[in-house]
Amino acid sequence: MTASGTSQSTSSPRQRTPLTERSAEELAEFLSEARAAYDELVAQGLSLDLTRGKPAAAQLDLSNALLDLPHGVVDQAGVDTRNYGGLEGIAELRAMFADLLWVEPEQVVAGGSSSLVMMREVLTDLWLKGAVDGERAWGAEEKVRFICPVPGYDRHFTLLDWFGIEMVTVPMNADGPDPDAVAELAGKDPSIKGIWVVPTYANPSGSIVTQEVAERLASMTTAAPDFKILWDNAYAFHHLTEAEAKSADILSLASAAGHPHRPIMFASTSKITFAGAGVAFLAGSVETVKWYLGHLGKGSIGPDKVNQLRHAQFFGSAQGVRDHMRRHREIVAPKFDSVLRVLRDELGGLGIASWTEPTGGYFISLDVLDGTAARVIELAKEAGVALTQAGSSFPHGQDPRDRNIRLAPTFPEPPEVEAATHAVAVCARLAAAEKLVG
Ligand SMILES: Cc1ncc(COP(=O)(O)O)c(C=O)c1O
Repeated sequence: MTASGTSQSTSSPRQRTPLTERSAEELAEFLSEARAAYDELVAQGLSLDLTRGKPAAAQLDLSNALLDLPHGVVDQAGVDTRNYGGLEGIAELRAMFADLLWVEPEQVVAGGSSSLVMMREVLTDLWLKGAVDGERAWGAEEKVRFICPVPGYDRHFTLLDWFGIEMVTVPMNADGPDPDAVAELAGKDPSIKGIWVVPTYANPSGSIVTQEVAERLASMTTAAPDFKILWDNAYAFHHLTEAEAKSADILSLASAAGHPHRPIMFASTSKITFAGAGVAFLAGSVETVKWYLGHLGKGSIGPDKVNQLRHAQFFGSAQGVRDHMRRHREIVAPKFDSVLRVLRDELGGLGIASWTEPTGGYFISLDVLDGTAARVIELAKEAGVALTQAGSSFPHGQDPRDRNIRLAPTFPEPPEVEAATHAVAVCARLAAAEKLVG
């Protein structure tokens, strides 16, 4: 594991000869063994699912005390949370998450239950009205393009596609988006208006953006004066080890570099409390917050403050959020360990797969032999194991190397996680052997 938390691993406890170094006879033998293992898998009549990046019931149960809250209906500022008003969210929850996200309370909005909705709102506002630091609505531009680190979060790409925004990919490395590639694109093309970044335990790679990379992104010269970093910190507190990564402080970095309005940050409690009934947050410069609320106010008279109050009471403090996340870790970390153990035992040393070893977040990114990801997913489906669609971590679902598979271990029960990962390994071995022999 590298200092930044992810590594590409092909090691195995057993010494194996990579398939590419084997003779034709050895390969043929490997193929026939792989076929037999696959037939055995199909005969088991499995029904497993590794697609869902959502909390397991046991994780949701950790927050059941919310169902008996709030005590009273008035927040610390004396506001009756049952009534209209307070678009920016209740003061104590804004302050709590400002502390966690290293910003000032007036830079934070506490909203509804989904940060993805906030991202869509921000893009809609940019499209219709233009940025706080822009001259024109993005929709009035001849062309708008966006930088997308890959592999990345499919819904980010779907959202851009919905606006007709063209996506330009750059590699997502273990320390964040390739800063040279980003600077080169953003520096010379004014139609490039922004970049998605999942800075902490990224979906699906588990990458962590370092302070150095964040600084480059915050300070680089951009041809578009209203360039935006959409900093989606969905997994900011979702640690899997004692080494709890701290997200880079993008707002301060951008402000210090003279671009205070460049980053807009998002987070939510979807994977902290209830995925369907949490609280989402947006943070940015004070002007960005004003800009966002100004547009929000055209369609809302205030968020669900009762839900915000019960969250504030449930956590008690920023430390309460951190303590709560340790309880999630106890449930989630063994599932990740079991995926990694099976991958190592069954695919290690064969030279046909590599995978990330994340120290947080919700996903493991598996790269199988080039040109076989779709086949692996098809084989798994026929054996009753659902995997995320091939290419889903790339714009338009197009993985140019057809090799990436996103594994989501959180939702199934531990024995299912192990059985599903074994199935993935069996399918990856068969698909690779078919390809190499063929
Ligand atoms: C990177 C990322 N951002 C946002 C979300 C969704 O966030 P929310 O539930 O707050 O809408 C997810 C969910 O999988 C995600 O992986």
